[in-house]
Amino acid sequence: MGNAHSTPSSSNSRIISRKRSAGISKIGPSCCNLWNSWFTSSVASEETFCNDKCNIDHSSPKYAAQIPVIDNDAVVAYSAFLKAFPEYQLTSILDDLRESDFSRLDRTGETYVDYMGGALYPESLIRRYTAFLNNNVLGNTHSVSNSSKLSSTCANEARDAVLSFFQAPPEYTVIFTSNATGALKLVGEAYPFTNPSTYILGADSHNSVHGIREFATRAGAKVCYIDSTESGGFVESTAKAVLTHNRPKSHENASSLFALTGQSNISNSKNPLSMIEFASSMGYHTLLDAAALAPSSTFSLADHPQLDAMAVSFYKMFGFPTGVGALIAKKSFLAELHRPWFSGGNVDVVQVPGSLVTRSYDIHEQFEDGTINYLTLPIITDGLRFLSVYLPFLPLRLSSLLHFLTSSLSRLRHDQSGTPVVRILSRLPKCRLKSVGEQADTGSTVSLIFLSPSGEMIPNTFIEHAATAQSISLRTGCMCNPGGAAALLGVQDDMSLLYPGVTLKDFEQIVGRELGVVRVSLGLASSFRDVWKVIRFAATIGNEKSRQVLWDRWMVNSEVVGKAM
Ligand SMILES: Cc1ncc(COP(=O)(O)O)c(C=O)c1O
Repeated sequence: MGNAHSTPSSSNSRIISRKRSAGISKIGPSCCNLWNSWFTSSVASEETFCNDKCNIDHSSPKYAAQIPVIDNDAVVAYSAFLKAFPEYQLTSILDDLRESDFSRLDRTGETYVDYMGGALYPESLIRRYTAFLNNNVLGNTHSVSNSSKLSSTCANEARDAVLSFFQAPPEYTVIFTSNATGALKLVGEAYPFTNPSTYILGADSHNSVHGIREFATRAGAKVCYIDSTESGGFVESTAKAVLTHNRPKSHENASSLFALTGQSNISNSKNPLSMIEFASSMGYHTLLDAAALAPSSTFSLADHPQLDAMAVSFYKMFGFPTGVGALIAKKSFLAELHRPWFSGGNVDVVQVPGSLVTRSYDIHEQFEDGTINYLTLPIITDGLRFLSVYLPFLPLRLSSLLHFLTSSLSRLRHDQSGTPVVRILSRLPKCRLKSVGEQADTGSTVSLIFLSPSGEMIPNTFIEHAATAQSISLRTGCMCNPGGAAALLGVQDDMSLLYPGVTLKDFEQIVGRELGVVRVSLGLASSFRDVWKVIRFAATIGNEKSRQVLWDRWMVNSEVVGKAM
């Protein structure tokens, strides 16, 4: 099958159509032609694709041949896994993808489980992208030359692709930013906060969402938090109570903003998207942080037409490029924002000397400072197209892997004491998915801490070091989500003890423990092999002898003098 980027008819996947922009035929080979021919040549027909992939034969030798042989234990575990999770085979398209586009994982032996940090780029996308760059002349978009027109065309196609991917009604537009943070900041710095207005957000949010409170407080607005539950996210009734209590009063004519985190990057919680409609009905503007949600969940703006704006980073969705994100926003919402400055790229006329400025005609241009990242925008279109083929299969696959991972980790015991090796802190899904197209009620992230035989927390720095030694890419720390981390670690109340200038080290002293978790997050290229490696690694920590070897190495490496565990 190779790079099968077609769309199976049995799925709900959305196709990104490359719209040919007016005038493009005049400037030679358009990006849409070039990139479409890639897809046509590398994609099997839909019929073949479906026959091959959608009719699952459980004894299929093709599938059996894909058993990722690590060792005998792995083979046994894999067949037990397939028996317990037969639905996993419905996602065999992702095994093919792993072979065709992520073979570097198996070649290098790296177990990548940091998809919340960043997705891995598909190799075919990079090849085609490089070929496209090598065969075309792209220039700065602020011109009328052929090279400039080609860049503008690619940028417009990318805008259309983003709108199409999120099924945006016509009132939405796309502003390219450097990442989700850039998109959130665009809203924060330009939002018309005033004295009686309010900024409402969940405690379990990324720092880039918390950061908006600086703009709010500077303008005299009130900032209100919705408490996090012990496993992250918020309780719907609590959120409704906070939103209702602070609802904007029509006579005050002050705008208030509600920022919703679609999915937490540490607690794995998904917040109810119905809060968008609720907050909007109360008179709030609504902003969705979809950075962690979009890579593995379907989100449709057509289903949430009340949403004013949402933020994404593309490297989190399909791995490449870094440095490009988007604010997808209603034009009417953008018209209510006040940009704090102007710059190259977003103005029509500037009086110099003087104070008059006429902004660019297109509203998205008014928000794009300087030169957009025009060299990488062609790949956004194809990255989204690529993802839209595989996204329908992802929740099912991740559900099987997550259930297997969390149940296996929870069962692990120390050989010395019989006590648990890990404590899982993040939210577990309520139910297991059984078919393609279903959506999960959580993400596919596991935040946990490792425990010693006596039940104390093993330092995360040791775990990270030991995991790295076994070629496992995971992450430790608070993940830029202090509220979510505090909730998982049960130190929410200690937040009130912080003082100006406090450092993380100080805070750790206050609470008397290391702050942070070990995070394992799954994504597009994840397979049984990765999950198995993580389980085996955890088992190594539960084994006194092997743990001691790793511990001694860590001691030597970090040049610390410590006692044996
Ligand atoms: C939920 C969430 N929001 C926002 C961000 C910020 O994304 P970026 O660093 O790409 O701007 C992240 C990054 O991990 C995230 O997980």
